[in-house]
Amino acid sequence: MNCGLDFGTSNSTLSLCRERAVTLVPLEGEEITIPSAVFYAVNASDARFGKQAMRLFMEGEEGRFMRSLKRILGTSLMNDGTVVNGKLKRFEDVLGDFIGNMKAAAERHSGVEMTNVVMGRPVHFADNDSKTDSRAQDELQNIAKAVGFKHVAFQYEPIAAAFAHERTLRSEQLALVADIGGGTSDFTVIRLAQNMMDKSDRTDDILGNSGIRIGGNDFDKDLSLSAFMPDFGYGTDYGEKNLPLPAVPFHDMSEWSKINFLYTPKMHKQMRDILPQSHAPEKFSRYIKLLEEGKGHQLLAAVEECKIGLTDHLQMTALLDFVEAGFAVSVARAVFNAAVDKHVRAIVSDIDDCLRQAQVREKDVELIILTGGTTEVPLLKKTVAAKFPQADISEENKLSSVGLGLGYEAIRRFGTAG
Ligand SMILES: Nc1ncnc2c1ncn2[C@@H]1O[C@H](COP(=O)(O)OP(=O)(O)OP(=O)(O)O)[C@@H](O)[C@H]1O
Ligand SMILES: [Mg+2]
Repeated sequence: MNCGLDFGTSNSTLSLCRERAVTLVPLEGEEITIPSAVFYAVNASDARFGKQAMRLFMEGEEGRFMRSLKRILGTSLMNDGTVVNGKLKRFEDVLGDFIGNMKAAAERHSGVEMTNVVMGRPVHFADNDSKTDSRAQDELQNIAKAVGFKHVAFQYEPIAAAFAHERTLRSEQLALVADIGGGTSDFTVIRLAQNMMDKSDRTDDILGNSGIRIGGNDFDKDLSLSAFMPDFGYGTDYGEKNLPLPAVPFHDMSEWSKINFLYTPKMHKQMRDILPQSHAPEKFSRYIKLLEEGKGHQLLAAVEECKIGLTDHLQMTALLDFVEAGFAVSVARAVFNAAVDKHVRAIVSDIDDCLRQAQVREKDVELIILTGGTTEVPLLKKTVAAKFPQADISEENKLSSVGLGLGYEAIRRFGTAG
């Protein structure tokens, strides 16, 4: 059977094509989206995925937890592999476990083998680096083949989102899709209309594509470094020469895909050696605690929750009892906005690139399709809306439009027989 698979940095979906109908498959219980998280418990032979992985890990079960694996594709970290419960494991195999689990869920649900897949991909996995870009796609393709897909094709994620929205349009519209997820921001300028849906080649309708490796993960990092890490010693000094503590360990503790790489005996020793010379030992010992107790993901999850809370509230307080009894961090939305401002500006400038490429002016755009969880961030939404005051804004199915659109693309590429 043909399917579409949106392997996201934060969340993933899979759509099935039966004849001309495309539907999203329940992947975890009744849920059609599954968090892109994997947990290998010490005393279990098989991996756990999604919300279940997150719950087991956050409840303190011992094992190796991973999120934001998509960010590793194409990078040198892919070659290093990772130690999982004492054994070296290739990232290809970790990713294969996750994608294979999605495939198996779809097969259980439909009773049919998934053979052909259109996978989503960001316009650029990496910025200004075409080698990394093609390596990342090749790696994803090999993983999909290794878990049993016979034919694997790719489509840009924002184009897939456009195809999902096209079904709801009443007239032809010039649209800009802004897909801002966990790992990347991706844009396409595309002509959409219901009567164009069945065209076998849409190349002429796609006027421009652009993308940048900035997403919600980077907003988590910005918020962590500006509002949380200072209470863990970031920016404080040590030693007689009043040197600042090294910044990299704090940066890595704030980046989903890097936390695990901090958990080494060498890093523990390096930080322990600095502690007696720290000028802010109460704060810095909290960092050491995160490191030694492996609580980095738990902290970053609290940061992310705080970020999401700031979408609806002007002020949020994160309770961090797992670090220290009664320890809490309060953040105002204004502080978050200031922390992410440079990234918001880079995203907007990438939209300008997309428009230039498409040779389209801002005022020509009739419809803005906002998709991806990060388009909820008020500063981002407001900035994009202000750029296109004349355009309609569509915000439906933010977490599933890419997966659905990849299903429609699967029909175009592989036919309806499946
Ligand atoms: N209400 C909200 N306010 C702010 N951010 C949010 C909100 N809801 C979700 N997010 C953020 O959106 C991101 C996830 O979005 P999404 O599921 O679209 O990403 P993805 O498709 O997995 O990533 P990508 O497409 O970049 O690979 C996370 O960073 C999450 O914190
Ligand atoms: Mg996405």
